[in-house]
Amino acid sequence: MGDSYHLACVPGDGIGPEVVAEARKTVDAAAARFGFGVDWVDFDLGAERWLRTGEALPDVAVKELRETDAILLGAVGRPDVPPGVLERGLLLRLRFELDLYVNLRPVKLYPGVVSPLAGVGPDDLDLLVVRENTEGVYAGAGGVVHRGTPMEVATETSIETRAGVERCLRYAAGRARERAGRLTLVHKTNVLTHAGDLWQRAAREVAGEAGVVLDYVHADAACLYLVSDPGRFDVVVTDNLFGDILTDLGAAVAGGLGTAASANLNPGGGSGGLKERSDSPPVRRPPSLFEPVHGSAPDIAGTGTANPVAAVLSAALLLEHLGELEAAAAVEAAAVAALPGAGGYSTQALGDRIAAAVTAGEPRPSRRQ
Ligand code: IPM
Ligand code: MN
Repeated sequence: MGDSYHLACVPGDGIGPEVVAEARKTVDAAAARFGFGVDWVDFDLGAERWLRTGEALPDVAVKELRETDAILLGAVGRPDVPPGVLERGLLLRLRFELDLYVNLRPVKLYPGVVSPLAGVGPDDLDLLVVRENTEGVYAGAGGVVHRGTPMEVATETSIETRAGVERCLRYAAGRARERAGRLTLVHKTNVLTHAGDLWQRAAREVAGEAGVVLDYVHADAACLYLVSDPGRFDVVVTDNLFGDILTDLGAAVAGGLGTAASANLNPGGGSGGLKERSDSPPVRRPPSLFEPVHGSAPDIAGTGTANPVAAVLSAALLLEHLGELEAAAAVEAAAVAALPGAGGYSTQALGDRIAAAVTAGEPRPSRRQ
Protein backbone atom coordinates (compact mmCIF):
# COMPACT_ATOMS: atom_id res chain seq x y z
CA MET A 1 0.00 0.00 0.00
CA GLY A 2 1.32 3.43 -0.89
CA ASP A 3 0.27 6.75 0.56
CA SER A 4 -3.13 7.44 1.97
CA TYR A 5 -5.03 10.66 1.35
CA HIS A 6 -7.62 12.46 3.37
CA LEU A 7 -9.86 14.12 0.77
CA ALA A 8 -12.61 16.67 1.28
CA CYS A 9 -15.71 16.57 -0.84
CA VAL A 10 -18.05 19.55 -1.23
CA PRO A 11 -20.86 18.23 -3.44
CA GLY A 12 -22.76 21.55 -3.28
CA ASP A 13 -25.99 22.21 -5.13
CA GLY A 14 -27.86 21.33 -8.31
CA ILE A 15 -25.85 18.92 -10.46
CA GLY A 16 -22.86 19.29 -8.11
CA PRO A 17 -23.62 16.15 -6.04
CA GLU A 18 -24.42 14.16 -9.19
CA VAL A 19 -21.15 14.86 -11.00
CA VAL A 20 -19.02 14.65 -7.85
CA ALA A 21 -20.35 11.16 -7.09
CA GLU A 22 -19.01 9.98 -10.46
CA ALA A 23 -15.67 11.75 -9.99
CA ARG A 24 -15.25 10.08 -6.62
CA LYS A 25 -15.96 6.71 -8.15
CA THR A 26 -13.11 7.15 -10.58
CA VAL A 27 -10.71 8.30 -7.83
CA ASP A 28 -11.65 5.26 -5.75
CA ALA A 29 -11.11 3.00 -8.76
CA ALA A 30 -7.71 4.57 -9.39
CA ALA A 31 -6.77 4.21 -5.70
CA ALA A 32 -7.61 0.50 -5.79
CA ARG A 33 -5.70 -0.06 -8.99
CA PHE A 34 -2.59 1.96 -8.16
CA GLY A 35 -2.36 0.98 -4.51
CA PHE A 36 -2.97 4.12 -2.51
CA GLY A 37 -5.59 4.83 0.09
CA VAL A 38 -8.34 7.44 0.02
CA ASP A 39 -10.77 8.49 2.69
CA TRP A 40 -13.41 11.08 1.93
CA VAL A 41 -15.01 13.52 4.29
CA ASP A 42 -18.15 15.32 3.12
CA PHE A 43 -18.77 19.00 3.78
CA ASP A 44 -22.31 20.28 3.71
CA LEU A 45 -21.75 23.70 2.12
CA GLY A 46 -23.57 25.68 -0.55
CA ALA A 47 -26.94 27.26 -1.21
CA GLU A 48 -28.95 24.66 0.70
CA ARG A 49 -26.81 25.15 3.78
CA TRP A 50 -26.96 28.93 3.54
CA LEU A 51 -30.73 28.94 3.14
CA ARG A 52 -31.07 26.61 6.12
CA THR A 53 -28.58 28.19 8.52
CA GLY A 54 -27.46 31.54 7.09
CA GLU A 55 -23.87 30.29 6.99
CA ALA A 56 -21.89 30.25 3.76
CA LEU A 57 -18.67 28.96 5.27
CA PRO A 58 -18.35 28.60 9.04
CA ASP A 59 -14.84 29.09 10.46
CA VAL A 60 -14.84 25.54 11.75
CA ALA A 61 -15.32 24.22 8.20
CA VAL A 62 -12.30 26.21 7.03
CA LYS A 63 -10.31 24.71 9.86
CA GLU A 64 -11.37 21.18 8.99
CA LEU A 65 -10.83 21.70 5.27
CA ARG A 66 -7.32 22.92 6.01
CA GLU A 67 -6.52 19.56 7.55
CA THR A 68 -7.31 17.63 4.37
CA ASP A 69 -4.94 16.81 1.50
CA ALA A 70 -7.17 18.16 -1.28
CA ILE A 71 -10.72 19.31 -1.90
CA LEU A 72 -13.12 18.22 -4.65
CA LEU A 73 -16.02 20.60 -5.19
CA GLY A 74 -19.06 20.00 -7.40
CA ALA A 75 -20.86 23.32 -7.86
CA VAL A 76 -22.66 25.75 -5.62
CA GLY A 77 -25.56 28.12 -6.19
CA ARG A 78 -29.29 28.37 -6.55
CA PRO A 79 -31.40 31.10 -8.12
CA ASP A 80 -32.93 32.00 -4.74
CA VAL A 81 -29.57 32.94 -3.21
CA PRO A 82 -28.61 36.57 -3.92
CA PRO A 83 -25.54 37.11 -6.12
CA GLY A 84 -22.27 37.37 -4.21
CA VAL A 85 -23.36 35.46 -1.11
CA LEU A 86 -21.77 32.15 -2.11
CA GLU A 87 -19.31 33.61 -4.59
CA ARG A 88 -17.63 35.88 -2.05
CA GLY A 89 -18.68 34.01 1.09
CA LEU A 90 -17.66 30.52 0.01
CA LEU A 91 -15.73 30.16 -3.25
CA LEU A 92 -13.57 33.28 -3.08
CA ARG A 93 -13.12 32.99 0.66
CA LEU A 94 -11.69 29.50 0.20
CA ARG A 95 -9.38 30.71 -2.57
CA PHE A 96 -8.12 33.50 -0.31
CA GLU A 97 -7.93 31.68 3.02
CA LEU A 98 -6.16 28.68 1.52
CA ASP A 99 -4.02 31.02 -0.61
CA LEU A 100 -4.89 29.13 -3.80
CA TYR A 101 -3.02 31.60 -5.93
CA VAL A 102 -3.12 29.73 -9.23
CA ASN A 103 -6.26 28.85 -11.11
CA LEU A 104 -5.18 26.31 -13.69
CA ARG A 105 -7.61 25.76 -16.54
CA PRO A 106 -6.73 23.48 -19.42
CA VAL A 107 -8.44 24.44 -22.68
CA LYS A 108 -8.35 21.26 -24.64
CA LEU A 109 -10.47 19.88 -27.45
CA TYR A 110 -10.83 16.14 -26.96
CA PRO A 111 -11.45 13.62 -29.74
CA GLY A 112 -15.16 13.07 -30.16
CA VAL A 113 -16.05 16.57 -28.98
CA VAL A 114 -17.08 19.12 -31.60
CA SER A 115 -15.72 22.65 -31.41
CA PRO A 116 -18.00 25.41 -32.69
CA LEU A 117 -14.95 26.67 -34.61
CA ALA A 118 -15.02 25.45 -38.19
CA GLY A 119 -12.11 23.22 -39.13
CA VAL A 120 -10.61 23.09 -35.62
CA GLY A 121 -9.66 19.65 -34.32
CA PRO A 122 -7.89 18.30 -31.22
CA ASP A 123 -4.45 19.10 -32.67
CA ASP A 124 -5.33 22.78 -32.94
CA LEU A 125 -6.62 23.41 -29.45
CA ASP A 126 -4.56 22.36 -26.46
CA LEU A 127 -3.48 25.11 -24.12
CA LEU A 128 -3.20 25.84 -20.43
CA VAL A 129 -4.50 29.03 -18.90
CA VAL A 130 -2.82 30.03 -15.65
CA ARG A 131 -5.10 32.55 -14.01
CA GLU A 132 -3.92 34.55 -11.00
CA ASN A 133 -6.46 33.62 -8.33
CA THR A 134 -6.12 35.82 -5.25
CA GLU A 135 -5.78 39.41 -6.45
CA GLY A 136 -7.06 41.86 -9.07
CA VAL A 137 -10.62 43.09 -8.74
CA TYR A 138 -11.46 39.88 -6.88
CA ALA A 139 -9.49 41.12 -3.87
CA GLY A 140 -12.60 43.02 -2.78
CA ALA A 141 -11.08 46.50 -2.43
CA GLY A 142 -13.60 49.24 -3.00
CA GLY A 143 -16.90 50.37 -1.68
CA VAL A 144 -19.99 52.38 -2.17
CA VAL A 145 -21.20 55.73 -0.85
CA HIS A 146 -24.62 57.38 -1.15
CA ARG A 147 -26.12 54.04 -2.11
CA GLY A 148 -29.53 54.34 -3.71
CA THR A 149 -29.27 58.08 -4.22
CA PRO A 150 -28.46 60.01 -7.42
CA MET A 151 -25.03 60.68 -5.89
CA GLU A 152 -24.16 57.01 -5.63
CA VAL A 153 -20.49 56.17 -6.21
CA ALA A 154 -19.15 52.65 -6.41
CA THR A 155 -15.52 51.60 -6.77
CA GLU A 156 -13.82 48.25 -7.31
CA THR A 157 -10.09 48.67 -7.05
CA SER A 158 -7.81 46.15 -8.68
CA ILE A 159 -5.00 45.08 -6.37
CA GLU A 160 -1.83 43.71 -7.93
CA THR A 161 1.19 42.97 -5.81
CA ARG A 162 4.66 42.22 -7.10
CA ALA A 163 4.84 39.10 -4.93
CA GLY A 164 1.39 37.90 -6.00
CA VAL A 165 2.05 38.47 -9.69
CA GLU A 166 5.51 36.95 -9.53
CA ARG A 167 4.53 33.70 -7.84
CA CYS A 168 1.80 33.14 -10.42
CA LEU A 169 4.25 33.89 -13.24
CA ARG A 170 6.77 31.46 -11.77
CA TYR A 171 4.21 28.69 -11.74
CA ALA A 172 3.20 29.49 -15.35
CA ALA A 173 6.82 29.60 -16.52
CA GLY A 174 7.38 26.20 -14.90
CA ARG A 175 4.45 24.74 -16.79
CA ALA A 176 5.71 26.36 -20.02
CA ARG A 177 9.09 24.70 -19.53
CA GLU A 178 7.45 21.29 -19.28
CA ARG A 179 5.61 21.91 -22.53
CA ALA A 180 6.72 23.97 -25.55
CA GLY A 181 8.85 26.54 -23.69
CA ARG A 182 6.47 29.31 -24.72
CA LEU A 183 4.53 31.59 -22.40
CA THR A 184 2.01 34.24 -23.40
CA LEU A 185 1.17 37.06 -21.03
CA VAL A 186 -2.36 38.35 -21.53
CA HIS A 187 -3.15 41.77 -20.05
CA LYS A 188 -4.23 45.19 -21.19
CA THR A 189 -1.03 47.17 -20.85
CA ASN A 190 -2.20 49.83 -23.31
CA VAL A 191 -4.90 50.99 -20.88
CA LEU A 192 -4.06 49.47 -17.48
CA THR A 193 -0.66 51.12 -17.52
CA HIS A 194 0.13 50.69 -13.81
CA ALA A 195 -0.75 47.05 -13.24
CA GLY A 196 0.11 46.18 -16.84
CA ASP A 197 3.61 47.53 -16.39
CA LEU A 198 4.06 45.51 -13.19
CA TRP A 199 2.96 42.30 -14.93
CA GLN A 200 5.07 43.05 -17.99
CA ARG A 201 8.30 43.68 -16.06
CA ALA A 202 7.80 40.73 -13.74
CA ALA A 203 6.96 38.46 -16.71
CA ARG A 204 10.13 39.44 -18.59
CA GLU A 205 12.27 38.71 -15.54
CA VAL A 206 10.61 35.41 -14.68
CA ALA A 207 10.58 34.18 -18.29
CA GLY A 208 14.23 35.14 -18.67
CA GLU A 209 15.22 33.25 -15.53
CA ALA A 210 13.15 30.21 -16.54
CA GLY A 211 14.48 30.24 -20.08
CA VAL A 212 11.07 30.38 -21.75
CA VAL A 213 10.08 32.53 -24.70
CA LEU A 214 7.66 35.25 -23.65
CA ASP A 215 4.96 36.60 -25.92
CA TYR A 216 2.43 39.31 -25.07
CA VAL A 217 -1.18 39.73 -26.25
CA HIS A 218 -3.77 42.28 -25.13
CA ALA A 219 -6.83 40.68 -23.49
CA ASP A 220 -9.24 41.80 -26.20
CA ALA A 221 -6.98 40.51 -28.95
CA ALA A 222 -6.52 37.26 -27.00
CA CYS A 223 -10.29 36.68 -27.27
CA LEU A 224 -10.07 37.23 -31.00
CA TYR A 225 -7.07 34.90 -31.44
CA LEU A 226 -8.60 32.21 -29.27
CA VAL A 227 -11.32 32.00 -31.89
CA SER A 228 -9.37 32.79 -35.08
CA ASP A 229 -5.99 31.18 -34.36
CA PRO A 230 -6.04 29.17 -31.10
CA GLY A 231 -2.87 27.28 -32.08
CA ARG A 232 -0.79 30.38 -31.32
CA PHE A 233 -1.25 29.78 -27.57
CA ASP A 234 0.37 27.11 -25.44
CA VAL A 235 0.62 28.39 -21.86
CA VAL A 236 -1.22 31.64 -21.15
CA VAL A 237 -0.76 33.57 -17.92
CA THR A 238 -3.10 36.36 -16.96
CA ASP A 239 -4.76 38.27 -14.15
CA ASN A 240 -7.81 37.12 -12.25
CA LEU A 241 -10.59 38.84 -14.20
CA PHE A 242 -9.09 38.42 -17.67
CA GLY A 243 -8.53 34.77 -16.80
CA ASP A 244 -12.12 34.35 -15.69
CA ILE A 245 -13.43 35.71 -18.98
CA LEU A 246 -10.89 34.05 -21.23
CA THR A 247 -11.47 30.60 -19.77
CA ASP A 248 -15.23 30.72 -20.34
CA LEU A 249 -14.46 31.55 -23.95
CA GLY A 250 -11.89 28.76 -23.86
CA ALA A 251 -14.50 26.30 -22.61
CA ALA A 252 -16.85 27.36 -25.42
CA VAL A 253 -14.30 26.90 -28.20
CA ALA A 254 -13.28 23.54 -26.70
CA GLY A 255 -16.81 22.25 -27.11
CA GLY A 256 -18.56 23.53 -23.99
CA LEU A 257 -18.56 23.23 -20.24
CA GLY A 258 -18.95 19.46 -20.26
CA THR A 259 -15.20 18.90 -20.33
CA ALA A 260 -13.83 22.10 -18.71
CA ALA A 261 -11.86 21.24 -15.56
CA SER A 262 -10.07 23.51 -13.13
CA ALA A 263 -7.59 23.41 -10.29
CA ASN A 264 -7.28 26.11 -7.63
CA LEU A 265 -3.73 25.50 -6.54
CA ASN A 266 -1.37 26.40 -3.80
CA PRO A 267 1.71 25.02 -5.48
CA GLY A 268 3.92 25.98 -2.54
CA GLY A 269 6.40 28.83 -2.43
CA GLY A 270 3.47 31.09 -1.64
CA SER A 271 5.63 33.88 -0.32
CA GLY A 272 6.33 34.81 -3.93
CA GLY A 273 10.06 34.84 -3.50
CA LEU A 274 10.01 36.74 -0.20
CA LYS A 275 12.34 35.20 2.34
CA GLU A 276 10.77 32.84 4.88
CA ARG A 277 11.92 33.56 8.41
CA SER A 278 14.51 30.97 9.26
CA ASP A 279 13.21 30.58 12.81
CA SER A 280 9.61 29.95 11.76
CA PRO A 281 8.33 26.36 11.87
CA PRO A 282 7.78 24.59 8.54
CA VAL A 283 4.37 25.54 7.20
CA ARG A 284 2.08 22.81 5.95
CA ARG A 285 0.94 23.56 2.42
CA PRO A 286 -2.83 24.14 2.41
CA PRO A 287 -5.01 21.78 0.39
CA SER A 288 -5.72 22.74 -3.20
CA LEU A 289 -9.26 22.74 -4.56
CA PHE A 290 -10.50 21.10 -7.76
CA GLU A 291 -13.80 21.87 -9.45
CA PRO A 292 -15.45 21.71 -12.84
CA VAL A 293 -15.77 25.16 -14.45
CA HIS A 294 -19.52 24.66 -14.88
CA GLY A 295 -22.05 25.80 -12.30
CA SER A 296 -24.85 24.03 -10.49
CA ALA A 297 -27.19 24.04 -13.56
CA PRO A 298 -30.44 23.87 -11.52
CA ASP A 299 -32.43 23.49 -14.75
CA ILE A 300 -31.07 19.99 -15.36
CA ALA A 301 -30.47 18.92 -11.74
CA GLY A 302 -32.01 15.55 -10.97
CA THR A 303 -32.51 14.60 -14.61
CA GLY A 304 -29.39 12.42 -14.80
CA THR A 305 -28.24 14.25 -17.92
CA ALA A 306 -25.31 16.27 -16.52
CA ASN A 307 -21.96 15.41 -18.07
CA PRO A 308 -19.68 14.23 -15.26
CA VAL A 309 -16.52 14.43 -17.39
CA ALA A 310 -15.52 17.96 -16.28
CA ALA A 311 -15.69 16.79 -12.66
CA VAL A 312 -13.78 13.59 -13.50
CA LEU A 313 -11.07 15.58 -15.30
CA SER A 314 -10.89 17.90 -12.27
CA ALA A 315 -10.36 14.80 -10.13
CA ALA A 316 -7.52 13.82 -12.50
CA LEU A 317 -5.93 17.21 -11.80
CA LEU A 318 -6.34 16.50 -8.08
CA LEU A 319 -4.53 13.17 -8.43
CA GLU A 320 -1.79 14.85 -10.42
CA HIS A 321 -1.38 17.46 -7.69
CA LEU A 322 -1.06 14.73 -5.07
CA GLY A 323 1.75 13.24 -7.14
CA GLU A 324 -0.28 10.19 -8.19
CA LEU A 325 0.73 10.68 -11.79
CA GLU A 326 -0.13 7.23 -13.12
CA ALA A 327 -3.56 7.39 -11.53
CA ALA A 328 -4.12 10.89 -12.92
CA ALA A 329 -3.17 9.77 -16.41
CA ALA A 330 -5.41 6.71 -16.17
CA VAL A 331 -8.43 8.74 -15.03
CA GLU A 332 -7.90 11.32 -17.74
CA ALA A 333 -7.49 8.68 -20.44
CA ALA A 334 -10.61 6.82 -19.32
CA ALA A 335 -12.67 10.03 -19.24
CA VAL A 336 -11.46 11.11 -22.65
CA ALA A 337 -12.11 7.67 -24.14
CA ALA A 338 -15.69 7.84 -22.89
CA LEU A 339 -16.40 11.14 -24.63
CA PRO A 340 -17.41 10.02 -28.12
CA GLY A 341 -21.10 9.20 -27.79
CA ALA A 342 -21.19 10.36 -24.16
CA GLY A 343 -24.50 12.12 -24.79
CA GLY A 344 -26.26 8.76 -25.00
CA TYR A 345 -25.48 7.88 -21.38
CA SER A 346 -26.87 9.08 -18.08
CA THR A 347 -24.53 10.83 -15.63
CA GLN A 348 -24.26 7.66 -13.58
CA ALA A 349 -23.84 5.26 -16.52
CA LEU A 350 -21.04 7.39 -17.92
CA GLY A 351 -19.34 7.54 -14.49
CA ASP A 352 -19.64 3.74 -14.21
CA ARG A 353 -18.06 3.28 -17.65
CA ILE A 354 -15.17 5.61 -16.80
CA ALA A 355 -14.54 3.94 -13.44
CA ALA A 356 -14.68 0.48 -15.03
CA ALA A 357 -12.14 1.58 -17.64
CA VAL A 358 -9.83 2.87 -14.89
CA THR A 359 -10.11 -0.47 -13.12
CA ALA A 360 -9.45 -2.42 -16.32
CA GLY A 361 -6.51 -0.20 -17.29
CA GLU A 362 -8.08 0.86 -20.57
CA PRO A 363 -7.16 2.69 -22.66
CA ARG A 364 -3.45 2.89 -21.96
CA PRO A 365 -2.74 6.50 -21.15
CA SER A 366 -0.58 8.33 -23.63
CA ARG A 367 1.95 11.01 -22.66
CA ARG A 368 0.81 13.27 -19.86
CA GLN A 369 1.26 17.03 -19.73
C1 IPM B 1 -15.23 30.81 -11.87
C2 IPM B 1 -16.48 31.49 -11.44
C3 IPM B 1 -16.16 32.30 -10.19
C4 IPM B 1 -15.16 33.37 -10.59
C5 IPM B 1 -17.36 32.94 -9.49
C6 IPM B 1 -18.49 31.96 -9.28
C7 IPM B 1 -16.94 33.57 -8.19
O1 IPM B 1 -17.00 32.28 -12.45
O2 IPM B 1 -14.70 29.98 -11.11
O3 IPM B 1 -14.74 31.10 -12.97
O4 IPM B 1 -15.53 34.45 -11.04
O5 IPM B 1 -13.97 33.12 -10.42
MN1 MN C 1 -15.89 32.17 -14.32
